Amino acid sequence: MFRNLVLVGFMGSGKSSVGRVLSSLTGFALVDTDTLVAREAGQSIPVIFQKQGEEHFRALETKVLQGLVGRIGLIVSTGGGVVVAEENRKLLPQIGPVVWLDASPEQLYQRVKHSNRPLLQTADPRRTLKELYAKREPLYAGAAAIRIDSATLTHRQTAEAVLAHFQRHAQQQ
Ligand code: S3P
Repeated sequence: MFRNLVLVGFMGSGKSSVGRVLSSLTGFALVDTDTLVAREAGQSIPVIFQKQGEEHFRALETKVLQGLVGRIGLIVSTGGGVVVAEENRKLLPQIGPVVWLDASPEQLYQRVKHSNRPLLQTADPRRTLKELYAKREPLYAGAAAIRIDSATLTHRQTAEAVLAHFQRHAQQQ
């Protein structure tokens, strides 16, 4: 049906949690690009941002994505800003169909407000999130084969909606 699945979406959209359910439903291995970036750098994501900056982090993300092209049987959960770099937007569909998990900016804010996401360490994180979301929304839309609104769904329901989409799609071919 698909060789891999790639999950994109804003921070707090549920990529890791939905990825875990998708992994157990499909038997595909879950890989998380943030984990691979941290491993590659030998540093945590907040430390990479603090010491080397966002641009360096994006370059590491690109390297990690390049390493995933050609692999099979993976559910790939990505960092929320993976679509910011043009090179990453080209690489994502080469790995597998891209699924955009979405929710409203306010819902996303409620989910991440107590976390230590580096890009939200500002005086007004709600406003920062809304501005970032507005910039990124068209990038997710351009990169993704499907968008699932995860706001009212459990992680399990979201994962089932993703699989149902590809089952329908496979039957139509
Ligand atoms: C980022 C999102 C984070 C992580 C990094 C940058 C972003 O991943 O990659 O902090 O630019 O939105 P999550 O979406 O898993 O929080």
